[in-house]
Amino acid sequence: MLKKAVVFASGNGSNFQAIVDASKAKEIDVSIELLICNNEDAYVIERAINSGIDTLLVDYKKYTYFEIESMLIKQFKEMKIDYIFLAGFLRKLSPYFVTHFKNKILNIHPSLLPKYKGLDAIEQALANKDKEIGVTVHYVDEKLDNGPIIIQEEINIMGIDSEQVYQNVHELEHRLYIEAINKVMEE
Ligand code: GRF
Repeated sequence: MLKKAVVFASGNGSNFQAIVDASKAKEIDVSIELLICNNEDAYVIERAINSGIDTLLVDYKKYTYFEIESMLIKQFKEMKIDYIFLAGFLRKLSPYFVTHFKNKILNIHPSLLPKYKGLDAIEQALANKDKEIGVTVHYVDEKLDNGPIIIQEEINIMGIDSEQVYQNVHELEHRLYIEAINKVMEE
């Protein structure tokens, strides 16, 4: 059965695009109903417009976490949203929100978690001259980049220049998020 999802993103939105494209190509049994964004200048908003998907801009300077999250919970209930996909969303979600959607929120992170949680994961791997890097898609819990892993894949980066590393990681992200969504749908 077709599930309904929203994507949360704050920046470029290449993962948002990969998910939307997979949905339109019926590679995932999920329709993307809405983009939630906290940054009015984010390129992901333009991607949403071009894809015919509405954006809800949330203003963390004007409203409290509780106000924003209560509004989202109410709206997602009315829309009968089944899943939330985080794709470069640079705001924390409170334990109240995460608990409400237990096992329904997925996140993608460009590292072999539990290694390099938080920002600049790729930069840290490069600075440490790691031989391998990776991508993880996991369920979201109350702690940052911490919940149960759904899928993780490693890539060897020995002898590869940093620009190419970023490109390889992002290509892997776009494939892996779709695989993770399909895996979750089968569970
Ligand atoms: C990705 O590297 C993702 O893993 C991380 O934020 C970045 C978002 O990239 N959580 P994009 O906006 O989807 O291009």
